[in-house]
Amino acid sequence: MTAMKLDTEFTRMMGVDYPIIGAPMFLVSYEELVVAVAEAGGLGAIPLPNFRTVDDLRRTLDKIRQKTDKPIGVNIHVSGKFEWKERLALCLDFGVKFFISSLGDPRLILDDVHANGGQVFADVISVDQGLRARDRGVDGLIAVATGAGGHSGTAPTIILVPHLISKVGLPVIAAGGISTGAQMAAAIGLGACAVIVGTRLIASTESRASDEYKQAVVAAGPEDIVCTDRITGNPATWLAESIEKFDTMPDLRSKKWREFWSAGLSVAQAGEIKPAGEIIREMVTDYVSTCKKLGESVRGL
Ligand SMILES: Cc1cc2nc3c(=O)[nH]c(=O)nc-3n(C[C@H](O)[C@H](O)[C@H](O)COP(=O)(O)O)c2cc1C
Repeated sequence: MTAMKLDTEFTRMMGVDYPIIGAPMFLVSYEELVVAVAEAGGLGAIPLPNFRTVDDLRRTLDKIRQKTDKPIGVNIHVSGKFEWKERLALCLDFGVKFFISSLGDPRLILDDVHANGGQVFADVISVDQGLRARDRGVDGLIAVATGAGGHSGTAPTIILVPHLISKVGLPVIAAGGISTGAQMAAAIGLGACAVIVGTRLIASTESRASDEYKQAVVAAGPEDIVCTDRITGNPATWLAESIEKFDTMPDLRSKKWREFWSAGLSVAQAGEIKPAGEIIREMVTDYVSTCKKLGESVRGL
């Protein structure tokens, strides 16, 4: 018997079993989480700013490749201060196929990524940003909705995903507030080709968040999350208790970052700390039963 797979534009593009991306999360997603998500059939991703040096990144990619040959992704900042060229070359050498561009100009990486059979998706929060990204030649968009962990958008998924699809016309991945199969079914129903799961995976066994941070995510409800530009200059979501004592962003290299706990409204569905593979498998089972339920609700065809 062959294992059950889901079929979307994203799973075909990336060769993964499920249209679920384990979010690249600053100081949270490292090799353990990437391998766990990839081995469970999703696509694991790391943010390149997690690695101070190109050698640190090389060691991590090497460890990932010793444990899985499944497709993986990265978030890359294509900007001056960051040694992005060396990092890009290394990622391509290690067969990274999925690039999320947030800061900087994605045109600088497109040719190299495409020549290696990869795809570049841009984080966007509006149709204007989506059109600009399309003009620059990206392969798809990540619809960052309100309440997403990290830098957050202003429109809800239920509006933003279909709006981007109809006005921009590129494949869209839904990010923000998705951590159950029913939420994933809603996003796929809206036309998304995949979903990104961030906040829920902070509270996974394999995340590098501290135990206190994981427990705070589990204990929190949506009312414990604030969205403010006070820390990084852009609207971002935080566990309110963790930012009370801070006014501004510390230097990127500062250890203080570990005391800032970013999390989105999905804390609502983070019931307990468990292995990331279990979280992914439960999402898939719940997705299938939600689709069946939706099918059963149709009468008289
Ligand atoms: C703690 C944390 C750190 C994040 N850091 C990054 C990052 O470095 N790069 C990035 O592209 N996205 C980052 N994100 C955003 C995620 O990639 C993803 O878009 C988001 O978490 C999805 O929404 P959700 O948290 O509601 O699942 C971060 C999110 C969180 C919660």
